[in-house]
Amino acid sequence: MKDTKQQWFKEAKYGLFIHWGLYSILAGEWKGKEVEGIGEWIMNRFRIPVEEYRPLAAQFDPVDFNADEIVRRAKEDWGMNYLVFTTKHHDGFAMYDSQCSDYNIVKATPFGRDVLKELQLACEKYGMKLGLYYSQAQDWDDPDGYYAGVDNSQKNFRAYLDRKCKPQLKELLTNYGDIALIWFDTPMQMTQEESQELFDYVKSFQPNCLVSGRIGNNLGEYMSTGDNFIPLQPYAGDWEVPATLNDTWGFKKNDHNWKSPEHILNLLLKINSRGGNYLLNIGPDAKGNVPQASIDILNEVGDFVKKNSEAIYGTKAIPAPVYDLDWVIITGRPHKLYLNVIKPTKRVHIAAMDNKVTRAYLLETGEELEFRIGGPTRATGNVTVMIPEEYKAKKFYTIALDIEEETLVNQDLDW
Ligand code: GLC
Repeated sequence: MKDTKQQWFKEAKYGLFIHWGLYSILAGEWKGKEVEGIGEWIMNRFRIPVEEYRPLAAQFDPVDFNADEIVRRAKEDWGMNYLVFTTKHHDGFAMYDSQCSDYNIVKATPFGRDVLKELQLACEKYGMKLGLYYSQAQDWDDPDGYYAGVDNSQKNFRAYLDRKCKPQLKELLTNYGDIALIWFDTPMQMTQEESQELFDYVKSFQPNCLVSGRIGNNLGEYMSTGDNFIPLQPYAGDWEVPATLNDTWGFKKNDHNWKSPEHILNLLLKINSRGGNYLLNIGPDAKGNVPQASIDILNEVGDFVKKNSEAIYGTKAIPAPVYDLDWVIITGRPHKLYLNVIKPTKRVHIAAMDNKVTRAYLLETGEELEFRIGGPTRATGNVTVMIPEEYKAKKFYTIALDIEEETLVNQDLDW
């Protein structure tokens, strides 16, 4: 079990991932061919030689990028509590002003702005936690960085760690204020010692900076699930699901397979009810614009989140996986349960629940709701909440229950 000491992470529940880099220029296409799968892997998938990929930097001029607007939206419109930005993805290009590699957004592009500095300032302004994605093992630009899909046995990974990875981590942890977490990824063949060394290195600059599960060798401070993967089994430690809105992280012009706002909201509630955080991605394009479809989906999800934030932030795992019900997804905190209604219903009936409920009300308005103990199938142990007339056709609203017990109590199953 991984249990961070960082209370903010336990309570955050919903964050923004930003995948943005030179791959965004290609938008999923190289020499007329569309890449299969995720856009930020295009260099690897087409084995684009470094000499052909690097010149993309000279074209990178994202004049529409507006850190303030993205962070403001994330915080105020979308209801997110932390942000994780790709400072260096597997392609090796640094999205900040690096002194130890000129292959970066300030020195190698006509744009010349340190977008990480801009994000840092915006995060400070809006009270958003700032986390940094850093690809610590794969670096397709560095001759000694790992490269998925090829023979890496001749590489001098030690040299890469000392020449690029550690110096860049030091820059990131000393030049950009308080860093909430470092989001390591794809550890590849890293040894236990190497993962430990990076862990200690991060902590030597910022002891409160969290280290993500993907540092490898089980050394992270919280579990990062597989991409878009929600564990079915309860997990006692802290965890996070990194997830996409369509089927890519980095911008792809032809990926329009957007999940609906309802689908996203279902996933958010499902993850929160199991005790995890949802880290949801946007992939700005070559000009720095966030796809309109992403904005529209997140705005709609954000409406619910803002109105019912008490049912999201700071909630704790609901004890049993049986509570993936058809009509509601349950979230909770001590002495409260939130029945988040996801399908229109005339009443909410929770079977096999053995709590002493003292009050039921609509979370958004405080309107008291009638409830009964005992449902149609059993004499005791069930709770039924009556839904007011004007809500019977609605979905995505929340009913709060005050309960005497700490959390949801399951009836013993007697066969
Ligand atoms: C994967 C990919 C990567 C992406 C990440 C996000 O491991 O390698 O491209 O950044 O997942 O979770």
